[in-house]
Amino acid sequence: MHFSLDVMVLIFIFILYTSFFKIWNPLLGEAKIFMVLMEEDPLVYNKTQEAHLRFDSTFTHHFKSIDEYMIYKERMSSEHDKFLGSLLQTGSYNKLYSFTRLLNGFAVNIMSEEVLNTIQNSKEVRAVHEDIKMEKFTTHTPDFLGIPSGVWPTLGGATNSGEGIVIGFIDTGINPNHPSFTSQPYQGTNSGMHANSRKFKGKCATGEGFPSTACNGKIVGAQYFAQAAIAAGDFNTTRDYASPFDADGHGSHTASTAAGNHQIPVISNGFDYGYASGMAPGARIAVYKALYSFGGYMSDVVAAVDQAVEDGVDILSLSIGPSSVPSGPAAFLNVLEIQLLLATKAGVLVVQAAGNGGPSSSSILSFSPWITSAAASITDRKYNNTIKLGNGQSFSGTGLAPPTAGEVLFPIAAAADVCRSNTTASFMAIDSCQHKELFIPSLVQGKIIICTYTFDFEFEAASIATVADTVHEIGAAGFIITMDPDIGSEQLKGTTMTVRVPGIVLNNMEASSALWEYYNSKTIRSRTGGAIAFTATARILDGRQAIYTGQAPVVASYSSRGPDVNNALLQTADVLKPNIMAPGSSIWAAWSPNSEGDHYIKGQDFALVSGTSMATPHVAGVAALIKQKHPHWSPAAITSAMMTTADVADGSGAPILAQQTNQLAPATPFDYGAGSINPSRAIDPGLVFNTYFRHYIQFLCAVPGVDDESVRRAVGVGCPTKRKDWCSDLNTASLTVSNLVGSRKVIRRVTNVGGHKETYKLTVREPLGVKVSVSPQVFTISANASMHLRIVLEATEATNAYTFGEMVLRGSRKHVVSVPIAVYASSSLGS
Ligand SMILES: *[C@@H]1O[C@H](CO)[C@@H](O)[C@H](O)[C@H]1NC(C)=O
Ligand SMILES: *[C@@H]1O[C@H](CO)[C@@H](O)[C@H](O)[C@H]1NC(C)=O
Ligand SMILES: *[C@@H]1O[C@H](CO)[C@@H](O)[C@H](O)[C@H]1NC(C)=O
Ligand SMILES: *[C@@H]1O[C@H](CO)[C@@H](O)[C@H](O)[C@H]1NC(C)=O
Ligand SMILES: *[C@@H]1O[C@H](CO)[C@@H](O)[C@H](O)[C@H]1NC(C)=O
Repeated sequence: MHFSLDVMVLIFIFILYTSFFKIWNPLLGEAKIFMVLMEEDPLVYNKTQEAHLRFDSTFTHHFKSIDEYMIYKERMSSEHDKFLGSLLQTGSYNKLYSFTRLLNGFAVNIMSEEVLNTIQNSKEVRAVHEDIKMEKFTTHTPDFLGIPSGVWPTLGGATNSGEGIVIGFIDTGINPNHPSFTSQPYQGTNSGMHANSRKFKGKCATGEGFPSTACNGKIVGAQYFAQAAIAAGDFNTTRDYASPFDADGHGSHTASTAAGNHQIPVISNGFDYGYASGMAPGARIAVYKALYSFGGYMSDVVAAVDQAVEDGVDILSLSIGPSSVPSGPAAFLNVLEIQLLLATKAGVLVVQAAGNGGPSSSSILSFSPWITSAAASITDRKYNNTIKLGNGQSFSGTGLAPPTAGEVLFPIAAAADVCRSNTTASFMAIDSCQHKELFIPSLVQGKIIICTYTFDFEFEAASIATVADTVHEIGAAGFIITMDPDIGSEQLKGTTMTVRVPGIVLNNMEASSALWEYYNSKTIRSRTGGAIAFTATARILDGRQAIYTGQAPVVASYSSRGPDVNNALLQTADVLKPNIMAPGSSIWAAWSPNSEGDHYIKGQDFALVSGTSMATPHVAGVAALIKQKHPHWSPAAITSAMMTTADVADGSGAPILAQQTNQLAPATPFDYGAGSINPSRAIDPGLVFNTYFRHYIQFLCAVPGVDDESVRRAVGVGCPTKRKDWCSDLNTASLTVSNLVGSRKVIRRVTNVGGHKETYKLTVREPLGVKVSVSPQVFTISANASMHLRIVLEATEATNAYTFGEMVLRGSRKHVVSVPIAVYASSSLGS
């Protein structure tokens, strides 16, 4: 169904009006940031061929020299200044950036609605978007993914794997002093072939914490983008560093996960947790700092992406996204999505975190089919701590903590029973064990202290690190943190940080109650209730030893779920999201000791953290390995390779499960996309589903509620006269139909990248209530040839729910190409 233009205009005006009415108060001198796109096309449109978009020989073919290009950029920028100067009074605005590469436009900070109206009404302006806030979606994993045995050997060993590939990180910067990023000489094994890193033109901005030596060959470029954060008043130079230095930790973590050096010992709080390694240890890192401990602004991110593509990165890793679905006729048309489409057009593969809004459905925050959206899994590595009680009971919990000394039992004492009773401190202050001065020294020595995870922990006024410090300073033997029934044990904060003293977090209510029951039954009290003898005992085991066990991978509860949405009304789209799943839970990787965003991990060089943010660089690193092997593949071909070869069975061969609210359920493509990434198969997929820029335009033109004018405003080109009817016609390695009425024909085009002629046999597992017919069922395809598959989906009943299936192509040379199917049948042919 298409909205009429009138309706769209009305909705748009209404949204703008209400938001300004409520929020903008010029009397208070409030300023707002807008991204303005100009009518004139940016540089990227003057190229006809998709491949001719990089800053290489074909690029300079367009401009005679880099100098000439720089002159062009300056001209664009000064034209933006001239435009603003001719329209507006000096002082009523402040231009933050000019976008010249992928977009022709600028970010501007303006002081009143009047100024905004003047800009919006100008004929030279194509579109105006208000800036929105962006969020961070906050090693053993190469082995878990089978990379050391399955992929690295084919690429010349670990240190050569990723060689020649530059991954750009739009993140919080990088800690250049970290061993994961020490200098790497160029190995030169593939010299001349596809060593893009030599063509990479990124600059290295120096500044506090970031000397010129920081760009050392491993880190090949580093810049930072903070104009919008500064204009918004959020940027603090002391805390955030006006340089590419990572004061947060998140950016160092993601960069080292994708491309960190091989075999780096992970030492935290004096304990060796094993080795960490990037997925592509030979890849180079280009840093675009646009996020801070408080998050970031879209203008800064857009400026960073513009620069990264201009510099010539091969892959962009974005462990960030908007905090909600952007407004407007389609989520696909917001400035960042469109810019990333243009980046894809320029040959850059974009990997983005799916979001941490799971497990509710349609919680996805990465929308567009040209982006590879990463879901997060739990791996088979677990850290599990155990407490053994004097009565023989034992309970497991978490806590990366050493064991209590020897195999002896220690008396246990509740904080309230060993604190001064004559203080004015609240129960909460006592139970949370944050204040060493409240404890009575003679009563605590050699005891394990029971503390409670109070609301202070929820609001970060209390931390487990402080509990550990308190216990250390009062001379206690260790700590137990029990759960408060009013809070529950769902989202505990800071439980994956390492500590130096024995301790355990009893992260479930039953264990916590059992411990209290035991303690109360064994503690002898006076008539007034004071404890006079502590006879309950316990010992805590070593919580730092990883165990490799259990079903894995499992979709992590927080990982955002499909179905994908067209817009903020959450109308579902004919696009499969997420695309692929990679490890995201409890990932060890590099950190920054400043750790401004997470006080629990301050002072540490490594951190164990979780999120789709952590899954994203795993995918980016694997993409680098594929790109190294197949330098001429399009971004869509690389995504297809990862998707069609992904695993839908776990390590034990059973279907992968997903954490839902309080239970595990069989995972669907809306949980993990095509499945769990399998690098050794992805490097040789047999067939790929390829897609180019013009196909994405056809896709946009088929989105319900999107008219030609919205597409033209966003992308600069209108819809083709011969339009596709459905978004499901986009040639992706998945089949999603959000509203099947009767039947629908879908065409897919496969290309043989297996290097040899191969015969494929096709089988289909039909979604419930849907008949799927595909022709041909058997075909032989020559090397490099392409052919069409004609697929007809027919609703045999109105399921009024999504049902899932799979199309599998099995090749005579052992390639297996799997395509997930998701269909929502609204009515069958007969009804
Ligand atoms: C792009 O092409 C148009 C028309 O072909 C031309 O007017 C414009 O100056 C070109 N822009 C650049 C940056 O070369
Ligand atoms: C900036 O951060 C520093 C260090 O965290 C802090 O001491 C200072 O108060 C902050 N300045 C402002 C203006 O917030
Ligand atoms: C933790 O380890 C103990 C002993 O190895 C085991 O019995 C228990 O099931 C484990 N708990 C979890 C949650 O894995
Ligand atoms: C509180 O009691 C402790 C001993 O338990 C004593 O040393 C201290 O002086 C008392 N403080 C006050 C304010 O009475
Ligand atoms: C297929 O294409 C690749 C890359 O362009 C080329 O190296 C190879 O020779 C081609 N193979 C055949 C059989 O045409």
